[in-house]
Amino acid sequence: MDYFTYQPVPGYDERIARLLCEDVAIDDIAAAIGTPCYIYSARTMHEHAARFAAAFAPINPLLCYAVKACSNTEILRRLFGAGMGADVVSGLELERAWLAGCPMEKVVFAGVGKSDSEVRAALDGTHSPLRDDAISNGHPDPASRGSVGVLNSESRSELERIATIAAELKTPARVAIRLNPDIDAGAHDHTTTGRASDKFGVPIDEAEALYRDFHADPFVRVVGFHVHLGSPIYSSKPYTDAVRALASLIDRAESHGGRITHLDLGGGFGADYQTGQTPSYQSYAEAIIPAVMPLVERGVRIALEPGRTIMGNAGVLVVSVRHVKRQCGHRFVICDAGMNALIRPSLYGAKHSVWPTTVSKDDVPSARLPDKPSKHEACDIVGPVCETGDFLARGARLPEVIRGDRLAVFTAGAYGMTMANTYNDQPLPCEVLVDGERVHVIRERQQPWQTIDARHITRQLDLMTGAIG
Ligand code: LLP
Repeated sequence: MDYFTYQPVPGYDERIARLLCEDVAIDDIAAAIGTPCYIYSARTMHEHAARFAAAFAPINPLLCYAVKACSNTEILRRLFGAGMGADVVSGLELERAWLAGCPMEKVVFAGVGKSDSEVRAALDGTHSPLRDDAISNGHPDPASRGSVGVLNSESRSELERIATIAAELKTPARVAIRLNPDIDAGAHDHTTTGRASDKFGVPIDEAEALYRDFHADPFVRVVGFHVHLGSPIYSSKPYTDAVRALASLIDRAESHGGRITHLDLGGGFGADYQTGQTPSYQSYAEAIIPAVMPLVERGVRIALEPGRTIMGNAGVLVVSVRHVKRQCGHRFVICDAGMNALIRPSLYGAKHSVWPTTVSKDDVPSARLPDKPSKHEACDIVGPVCETGDFLARGARLPEVIRGDRLAVFTAGAYGMTMANTYNDQPLPCEVLVDGERVHVIRERQQPWQTIDARHITRQLDLMTGAIG
């Protein structure tokens, strides 16, 4: 579900339809700010968040938006304003969440390799790496923000570090142990996380042993368990299988004393790369709620960490066609961005629907079906990066396009901008948020001097001549 629609534009040629984001033509935005750019629909993201929350309302879960999916601070500010908490996986994601207004008690902090400094800042805001900047920029001092709601721990070694740091700071850490239940959730090999061979979490026996050894530690409160099976997961079965494993773990753990009050089932809920691909939130909830209800009735609070499902359909990447060339039976549509702006097709073979932002009325797609055969000639939609693996879509059936036309890459709102990179010194795209008729630039295009880190050249010379330190 999204609010990107093709509409005839009054006063224009009536055989033409233009892609709108809510009430604004994408071409008008792109003409004003250039491409490549990410354009997000506020209404789409809020509706996904609200529908997700409504589906799971019977168990009153802690909903922690996975910041890594789309971490623009304005997006975060709006989602936190609508009541969501945050799932973060690095110290700076934590700082973003805090700057964007997320109460610390609604933050869960995961990650398989947290540094000591990250753990310190999570427990005590006086260790925030942004503290000096925050104070000098007039932001509230993070010193008084308190500890994150839950720190997820993924190994004995890490839990020992957390216990040591918490004791040094004299600040108890609320911890959840991440379970690796050896469940294959069927996502891409690189994004399936709950198999025994994946680096995440600990097996069930080790999780029980960690609970036994740490639950009475004076500075570690083991409040519960965490699991995240992969992303995206288009079925509720992996979740219910995981709940079964977790329920048995809870029983085993509590036999050592103490009480479990927190159970985090992670994220992974789907987004529609193809129309109708994602089960309804209702159907995920109808399977998961009965499975967790006995635990909820015992006083366990369920946490969920949706990312992709909130933002995936809420964003498009807009690129411009630089050249079209035909050779050896191939049509190449060469655009001003490729794997630098959206790496998912190259990295995971992900299929995003790509379509011109202005089309003849006959070419208005009735659904987003990237693989659908059509009357149009197939082409590879590629970027400017010097790699054969630089493409946005391969074998796409695209209407005829020419230099200067713009293309929208759909379902790019999650893991688009956050994975964008400057390979080949391509500047990062800008980001725009549309809210009805209003258009907000929420991140400016990266400037050339930032992309090539021009200041670094000077600094390096200073070091060489001994002018620093
Ligand atoms: N919680 C944890 C602990 C995670 O590792 C993730 C995603 C999530 C929640 C959110 O998952 P979501 O609800 O967004 O599916 N770059 C890949 C996706 C990697 C996901 C990493 N972890 C992609 O573009 O498909």
